[in-house]
Amino acid sequence: MMQQSTDIIILGIESSCDDTSAAVLKNGCLLSNIIASQKVHEAYGGVVPELASRAHQQNIVPVVDRAIREAGIDRKEITAVAFTRGPGLLGSLLVGTSFAKGFALSLGIPIIEVNHLQGHVLAHFLREKDVEFRAPKFPHLCLLVSGGNSQIVLVRDYLKMEVIGQTIDDAAGEAFDKCAKVMGMPYPGGPLIDRLAKEGDPKAFQFAKPRIRDLDYSFSGLKTSFLYFLRDQLQVNENFIAERKADLCASLQHTIIEILMDKLVRAAKQTGIDEITVAGGVSANSGLQNRLRVEAEKRHWNLYIPRFAFTMDNAAMIAITGHYKYLQGEFAGMDAVPFARMNINE
Ligand code: KG4
Repeated sequence: MMQQSTDIIILGIESSCDDTSAAVLKNGCLLSNIIASQKVHEAYGGVVPELASRAHQQNIVPVVDRAIREAGIDRKEITAVAFTRGPGLLGSLLVGTSFAKGFALSLGIPIIEVNHLQGHVLAHFLREKDVEFRAPKFPHLCLLVSGGNSQIVLVRDYLKMEVIGQTIDDAAGEAFDKCAKVMGMPYPGGPLIDRLAKEGDPKAFQFAKPRIRDLDYSFSGLKTSFLYFLRDQLQVNENFIAERKADLCASLQHTIIEILMDKLVRAAKQTGIDEITVAGGVSANSGLQNRLRVEAEKRHWNLYIPRFAFTMDNAAMIAITGHYKYLQGEFAGMDAVPFARMNINE
């Protein structure tokens, strides 16, 4: 009789926004993580949902195929398929959900639905071959900052999370992207602002900082303050943006970091937690990472910054969350449907 393998091999699928990604994880160790980003949105200044779903449909089969080949496994060895259930764009999520169901049905294996936000938080638990593994302890605080979210999460266990502060309007990534757009930069503006900010003076200009209660955030006032400031300056000098772009980027980035760090420091003090992680697309920001390192040194935090590939949307983080759900026997039925809006603890 053939010996049954005890390995847990999870195929992760991520399609919540504009990245199609597939990853293979064996017993918690990452074997492959393929990400196909969609360039089609650049011309529109933001993600166009209908175009995103079409691009996912085109990408999903080759991306999964490559993930399995790079992992060096046979697809029949896969134990379960974990897919992003939400939050995200419904049409995009439907592509990943439908693919996961069809793939799992064809192999007779279970499916696991994953909350994208939990995925970002658990990316810190991804082990990789030949890479030193250093994971945060529980409880820890995660500053989750992406294009759709800005929140401080109290992480009690792998699947036990509580939001203790969050934005009441725009996310930090949105602030980067929208301010970049008014400066005439393409989408997504965050990485471009990061690059230009390195050559500018972070104290050149001052922008409004919100006064929001408790540990919550707000970024819409900053966006408006930035817009009005530019409008006034352009009336005096029509070349203002071109002439001062680096200073504008540095000052804007500095303000966003100040806003983020102020509440994170408060959250650490209030909870007495000194295990601090950062996650989501904006966690790739070099200014934010530097500032986190400085604060960690000063405040004796144990700080965990994800590798670049795990800051953006990726299926590796979906696979690792799927792995922990698999261990708890949390499977989904074939009637599982995606959700555009979800809290982190759903
Ligand atoms: O997590 P993510 O890939 O997608 C979701 O929103 O789920 O985050 C994308 C966001 C965008 O707003 C992008 O501008 C921002 O992350 N971003 C950055 C940087 N890299 C990506 N923002 C600032 N600096 C960066 N280096």
